[in-house]
Amino acid sequence: MDSIDVDWAALEAAAVAAMANAYAPYSKFAVGAAALTADGRIVSGCNVENASYGLTLCAECTLVGNLHMTGGGLLRAFYCVDAGGNVLMPCGRCRQLLYEFRAPDLELMTTQGIKTMDQVLPDAFGPEHLEEPR
Ligand code: THU
Repeated sequence: MDSIDVDWAALEAAAVAAMANAYAPYSKFAVGAAALTADGRIVSGCNVENASYGLTLCAECTLVGNLHMTGGGLLRAFYCVDAGGNVLMPCGRCRQLLYEFRAPDLELMTTQGIKTMDQVLPDAFGPEHLEEPR
């Protein structure tokens, strides 16, 4: 599939809108995430916390769930924001989640500008490593 153009402003707006749905009574740290799929859809997510703290779902978790609930596919571009609308770096676990569903040309908005998946998660472990037992 050819690489599609990214409307970063639209992704930012979708991330901010998603953030408004956050359930973050414990940390009080609302997060919203949005992604453009390789076939042109926008999917989004917000963090959903839990009284057990450790079971908290990051915004990227619900985004990936929404990706699969709305047709699946791969991610072409990603944008995450905090409650102030500032770009937020995905946590380490969520970089792994995004890696699983990356399109080859996935780009992420970061605090240092647009980066590739390989830049934010170098030497990643992925499904390809499960194919050949060592
Ligand atoms: N959080 C996310 O939703 N995504 C991240 O990548 C970083 C952290 C959430 C989890 C928790 O609800 C709050 O931010 C504070 O850690």
